[in-house]
Amino acid sequence: MTTQFSVADVELELFRYPKAQESNLQAWDAADEHLIKTLLEIGQDAVPTAIINDSFGALSCALSKLNPNWPLFIETDARTSYLGSIQNHEHNHLPTDNLNWFTSRDNLPKDLGLVLMKLPKNLTYFAHQLMRLSHVLPAGTRILIGAKAKSINSALLDLFAKHLGPATASLAWKKTRVINCISDGKSRELPKEVSWPIPEYQLQISNLSNVFAANKLDIGARIMLDNLPKGDFNTIVDLGCGNGVLGLRMAQLYPNANIHFIDDSEMAVASAKANWLRNGLASDKGHFHWDDCMTHLPDDVEPDLVLCNPPFHQGEAITDHIAWQMFLDARRRLKKGGILHIVGNRHLAYHVKLQRLFKNCTTVASNGKFVVLQAQK
Ligand SMILES: C[S@@+](CC[C@H](N)C(=O)[O-])C[C@H]1O[C@@H](n2cnc3c(N)ncnc32)[C@H](O)[C@@H]1O
Repeated sequence: MTTQFSVADVELELFRYPKAQESNLQAWDAADEHLIKTLLEIGQDAVPTAIINDSFGALSCALSKLNPNWPLFIETDARTSYLGSIQNHEHNHLPTDNLNWFTSRDNLPKDLGLVLMKLPKNLTYFAHQLMRLSHVLPAGTRILIGAKAKSINSALLDLFAKHLGPATASLAWKKTRVINCISDGKSRELPKEVSWPIPEYQLQISNLSNVFAANKLDIGARIMLDNLPKGDFNTIVDLGCGNGVLGLRMAQLYPNANIHFIDDSEMAVASAKANWLRNGLASDKGHFHWDDCMTHLPDDVEPDLVLCNPPFHQGEAITDHIAWQMFLDARRRLKKGGILHIVGNRHLAYHVKLQRLFKNCTTVASNGKFVVLQAQK
């Protein structure tokens, strides 16, 4: 894995977040390099610039390096992206006074002169981001989007025309293209929130646009719900909570327990909180954390149960290193005798990881595709 980012005179050393992880994935991709190369070719001035979906700060670090006073307005839904960008600025001795942070629900300022974006995997979320941009960008503002060439087709270019303004794609370079979109200055209406029921558990769920399982229960979550652990639980963590469905069900079953919902996605945490309120659960028992696994969970939270349906990708990359980090954090934070209860695709062989970490692992349930496993600290 290389950590040396190099485009023309811009040299950086970049790491993913957390720096130490069970993966050899790189902290940026060729589309980041293509965007910086494009800016250098057009001789871009340091105008107020929004950076959207920057994975671990490659774009913001490159612009800070080109001009430490470049005003940057950084929109991200991922806590790991925020933490990684700060880590990489500090590692490269770059200032951070020029950085202004926004979640994907905050309004960006109206005086932007340029927008740089990476194309996310979730196109519903991307369309939502374009519509939100249409509320703040004056006609004629340039938006440059870096993406893999294979992800760009006429349907994607139509998405720009529909939600923000006309767009054209550059020639390919290192199997990537930069899309050049010019905002037309017309504000688009955001889609109405949709919610869906889980009748057998009397739950009503809604998801913001970047939340896992857009409009129906995930099949892994379903087998988990059908096989939840029983015990005298006081403090439960729903780790990688998404819309919060697992923790919500536990709150119904254990109304006296404190339930901590954690997700890397700010929209997920906001959805879990909205679903908590929507389903009329006790206001003082739900706790919501936008975090990378349990990195910043307060020390006085001592879980006796961690529930987890771990992610198996990060952005475009298929990886089980986050699952591994979640299991490690659970082992670190569980009370002695506490339980980690997980669901996973059978082929991911999580039982090997749990056995290695906890020295025990029980199969609670399984079907052709999924397995529910439990380990005790
Ligand atoms: C497979 S989904 C499960 C969602 C929900 N618990 C369910 O069962 O429907 C995995 C979740 O982990 C979250 N996630 C990914 N990386 C994370 C990290 N580093 N820290 C915390 N959550 C993370 C994702 O945003 C996603 O919501």
